[in-house]
Amino acid sequence: MLQSTIEHIVTDPTLHAKWLNTLSYMENCGARMISKCEHPTRTNLMVLKHAAEEHRHAYYLKKMIDRVQEGACETYEVEELLAGHTSRHYLHRLDIFASKYLQEKLGLAGEELKYVAYLYVTYAIEVRADDLYPVYHEILKKHDSPVSVWNIIKEEEGHLEEMIGALEKFDPLWETHAKVILAYEEGVFQNWMGVVSDEVGISTAQLNYN
Ligand SMILES: [Fe+2]
Ligand SMILES: [Fe+2]
Repeated sequence: MLQSTIEHIVTDPTLHAKWLNTLSYMENCGARMISKCEHPTRTNLMVLKHAAEEHRHAYYLKKMIDRVQEGACETYEVEELLAGHTSRHYLHRLDIFASKYLQEKLGLAGEELKYVAYLYVTYAIEVRADDLYPVYHEILKKHDSPVSVWNIIKEEEGHLEEMIGALEKFDPLWETHAKVILAYEEGVFQNWMGVVSDEVGISTAQLNYN
């Protein structure tokens, strides 16, 4: 499903511009979420690096739009995104779920809850990024696209390692909670991908053959 939808998008400049804009938007949401979770005085180098890199991913993907369709998608208004409304709620849904879950299971609150939710939500997003970007990268290569996401892939791999390191330090049982949050994210992702596929005109019947 993922492959055939992305392949269809990459071969159409208008859709490809919107796809890049959507990824840029999601990266920007991620960056803003990290900044929002930052402790006012105890923010460390890892968090600063992470926020800076996610902001740069958003900027870089936005810049790439010119390579497929010059001047397209200047804003993040819904009509310039793929699955606009669903994309807008993706991270928010995940953040709300994780925060509630961690509050109930671990009894966390305030700044601590914010930071721990940041670790788990970011972990889930990095797992997704490590799955999605390589698929996109292979399709870009196959079609000799002027767009490249190779540098993003390398940085997302680093983020995933950092999140695992931080979660291991926080709780030896982190994987139990991570599994619950990953399962929720899988549902959010499948729903998002379904809306994207519908919007770009890939029917479920077509997807079953891929
Ligand atoms: Fe990123
Ligand atoms: Fe990342």
